Amino acid sequence: MCGIVGYIGYREAYPIVIKGLKRLEYRGYDSAGVMLYDGADIKLCKTKGKVSDLEEKASKEMTTNGTIGIGHTRWATHGVPNDVNSHPHVSNSGDLVIIHNGIIENYAPLKQELIARGYVFQSDTDTEVLVNLIEEIQKKEKLKLGKAVQTALNYVVGAYAIAVFDKKCPDELVAARLGSPLAIGVGEGEFFIASDASPFIEYTSNAVYLEDGEMANIRLHKPMKVRKIKDDSEVDPYIQELQMNLEQIEKGGYDHFMLKEIYEQPSVIKDTYRGRLHANEGIIQMAGVEDNLEKFLNADRIIIVACGTSWHAGLVAEYIFEEFARIPVEVEYASEFRYRNPIINSKDVVIAISQSGETADTMAAIKLAKEHGAFVFGVCNVVGSSISRESHAGAYTHAGPEIGVASTKAFTTQITVLTMIALRLAKAKGTLSNSDFHMYLQELEIIPEKVREALETNERAKEIAATFKDAPNCLYLGRGYNFPVALEGALKLKEISYIHAEGYPAAEMKHGPIALIDDQMPVVVIAPKQGHYDKIVSNIQEIKSRSGRIIAVVTKGDTQVRELADYVIEIPETSDALSPLITTIPLQLLSYHIAVMRGCNVDQPRNLAKSVTVE
Ligand code: G6P
Repeated sequence: MCGIVGYIGYREAYPIVIKGLKRLEYRGYDSAGVMLYDGADIKLCKTKGKVSDLEEKASKEMTTNGTIGIGHTRWATHGVPNDVNSHPHVSNSGDLVIIHNGIIENYAPLKQELIARGYVFQSDTDTEVLVNLIEEIQKKEKLKLGKAVQTALNYVVGAYAIAVFDKKCPDELVAARLGSPLAIGVGEGEFFIASDASPFIEYTSNAVYLEDGEMANIRLHKPMKVRKIKDDSEVDPYIQELQMNLEQIEKGGYDHFMLKEIYEQPSVIKDTYRGRLHANEGIIQMAGVEDNLEKFLNADRIIIVACGTSWHAGLVAEYIFEEFARIPVEVEYASEFRYRNPIINSKDVVIAISQSGETADTMAAIKLAKEHGAFVFGVCNVVGSSISRESHAGAYTHAGPEIGVASTKAFTTQITVLTMIALRLAKAKGTLSNSDFHMYLQELEIIPEKVREALETNERAKEIAATFKDAPNCLYLGRGYNFPVALEGALKLKEISYIHAEGYPAAEMKHGPIALIDDQMPVVVIAPKQGHYDKIVSNIQEIKSRSGRIIAVVTKGDTQVRELADYVIEIPETSDALSPLITTIPLQLLSYHIAVMRGCNVDQPRNLAKSVTVE
């Protein structure tokens, strides 16, 4: 989704804004733009395409000096991606300039009103309506920028993170948020505005995260003023010290963020359970769970809401919770749940899983659950994100920034957190035998080592990728705990290589997908030794008899599947319930290499966004 960056201070704004936009590229976008103010003139450059295209255009079209600047990467909602629809947008007078992430839902009637008052529009965007609405209010009510923005925002319906500049008061930027994230970096004599802290991390580690419904007046050499948009009450800005460092948001020698993040999994899984899992003492301790243990234990059921890869982690958790803690679980797409009048009651525990903590549908789903009195527990990666703040309690995954659009380490760390919760509940309920409980704790503790071993399949995955990179379709099959891994494997492949792929429970193959199998169809089968092994061997036989090409993920030392499969990828042995943490690794590597070999943009696949802040 759109990314916004702003700077006001003593340095040249252009390099800061451009570098910032590059840091936000992971969010997904199709056009980019920048505005600079050099003390006399507003300079604007916008283009369809990448930030590098913007740089090239700017180098030809404008001088890049100026200590105030705003920039934007746009993920098209209203109007096709082209130069005109790109942000920033300028008001009719030419004085006001805006960047916006979000959607103004009532833009159409507002636009009609403005047209009736003589305003002319260049673009098809809702954002151009907003900047002209601010201008109209400013003129009519003779308001300063901050007040005019505030009044305008009280007229609009929708979601936004915005930054606005006014040539008439050029030592000021106004920022506001509702439903889209916005961070303000506070330096010495300078301020930064961005969709997340990554654009300003090397300049300051002090940041204010605006809450929904808040706006900030940022003036040079003056303390920042934060107020509520609705009632104008002043808010004391809470300046937090960022934990993020520059290294975490750079590629660190890897060709792509996705590969770096795949390789980070052994260490981030450790970070996820550090201080929470004490295998030798037989203890799992997570503050959010301990403080609300009764809520979990008295729950009639757990409802998991999520989207995308996080939804797949939820499906794995369904198997784990039901097996370990014997609590019924329902896993819902947040977007379906929120719109289908679901039955929710006060004895339900709703777990929201979200890497970004900003996904609009997941956010709306938990708001709905709260209205019905359910207890909401967030499993998020981004600290301080909207979903983590909206939840009653939660547990962070501590995976560090995930920048590749295709989620990898978020998935395995989500499963780690959810497994720990299930184990803690199982202990409290006595639904696992003591020996099994201890066995799982020990197993979980050594999972990072096994993930490291599974990463050694990289070369094998590369060889297989070379064989299958031109396949138009691919089928992924798994059973039990590894059925969601099949879905996730297929999602990874289609997201970044644009090969059509489907994940299926292996036994369901007979009810449809088997018709697709011929000697052109690669079928990836997840077939570890534990869990329904014999059944999956039969499924492999069925594919073999129809000449399908089998790539099997098997436990080291396996002989039976090896005889049937065209290619095997060997992974270390672990218990059935924990196997998704291992089986998913070669599938991530396989899709990565296929995408690279097909020349796809691995970290920024077409049309996709990392953080989906619109419904
Ligand atoms: C987008 C991303 C996916 C992610 C999904 C849910 O589609 O491209 O990688 O799984 O959103 O995001 P969340 O941040 O809520 O986990």
